[in-house]
Amino acid sequence: MNENASFLVLFLAPVKEYLEDDHVSEILINGPSQIYIERNGRLEETAAKFSGEAQLKAAAVNIAKSVDRQLDEAHPDLDARLPDGSRVHATIPPISRCGTILSIRKFKKEMLTMEKLEQFGSIPREGVLLLNAIVKLRKNVIVSGGTSSGKTSVLNALSGLIPENDRILVLEDASELQLQQKHCVYFETRKPDKNGQGEFSIRDLVIASLRLRPDRLVIGEIRGGEALDLLQAMNTGHSGSMSTIHANSPIDALSRMETCAIMSGIQLPLSAIRMQVASAINCVVHTMRLPDGSRKIVEIAEVLPLEHGEYRMRTLMQWKTESVAPDGSVTGRFVAGEEPTFRSQAEILHLELPERPS
Ligand SMILES: Nc1ncnc2c1ncn2[C@@H]1O[C@H](COP(=O)(O)OP(=O)(O)OP(=O)(O)O)[C@@H](O)[C@H]1O
Ligand SMILES: [Mg+2]
Repeated sequence: MNENASFLVLFLAPVKEYLEDDHVSEILINGPSQIYIERNGRLEETAAKFSGEAQLKAAAVNIAKSVDRQLDEAHPDLDARLPDGSRVHATIPPISRCGTILSIRKFKKEMLTMEKLEQFGSIPREGVLLLNAIVKLRKNVIVSGGTSSGKTSVLNALSGLIPENDRILVLEDASELQLQQKHCVYFETRKPDKNGQGEFSIRDLVIASLRLRPDRLVIGEIRGGEALDLLQAMNTGHSGSMSTIHANSPIDALSRMETCAIMSGIQLPLSAIRMQVASAINCVVHTMRLPDGSRKIVEIAEVLPLEHGEYRMRTLMQWKTESVAPDGSVTGRFVAGEEPTFRSQAEILHLELPERPS
């Protein structure tokens, strides 16, 4: 039996088969008799069933107990990472209307590297050259995309391009990243205990980490007020930092950073926040899950200075979908965009870039 699955399997016998199948990345349980899985990137409905709501709820409550958390009327929602690294989210009625809802994102033993992304056709060679120059030139990067579009995987692969002699601090809500460098220090947030005490948020981590002499910060995901602390860090000497954000396009990623910075509660005029975003974020790498379940880096964009208070971006590379077959399979190609502003900087460091379009 897969070691990662052995812990969960105690409570989740009806979906044991999927916990043990390495091609299955997620298990989505919508009440006792509707269970979907994601296998090889695609969602499938399964015939698996729990004997009833009581069995399913007992499984969810036991999972909560096993990580010393509560799942009951007063705490109807659980977001937990299990000791094996799997992420579990549970919601019980009456918050959910069709019984207990459980979603399990299985722990990946191996994170994707840039070489693998290239092999899978998620990025072309020219894209890898661009990203390599972006990271080596210490540009600050945000990886954007929708849910499960591959943001964390791309962040992990990007971090692989950081030179070995930089001191990297990795800050996460639930540890997923596995960097290849030796000089990496990992931190994880802590949720409040049963009495609401002891929380250590990603924001607390960003502030604490700045005292630990980071050369680069790698932050799992920006969801709230920590955006402002990260922007300030990026603007004050911690260049070459990277994170991810949930957004629908590169420009939307900048707006989302803005919204998150406002969530910090620190009163700053919008124009000041916008200036911070535009000067701190140098590049956005946008990811997408295509209809055939594959994930791609669909755009690499550079952030230019604000013009009349509005964001401006330059697309350096883009994926163009040409057709989608009835079975969902996608054909298309990567196309070069505009010239990067950093070509001469890259040349000074002898970093290879895609040829200039003739
Ligand atoms: N380029 C890729 N090719 C194939 N599979 C991929 C690729 N990138 C990611 N995946 C798979 O897709 C799933 C989601 O990836 P990942 O966790 O990186 O996405 P995410 O956008 O960070 O998700 P979330 O929104 O939950 O944070 C994982 O199972 C991962 O292994
Ligand atoms: Mg993620």
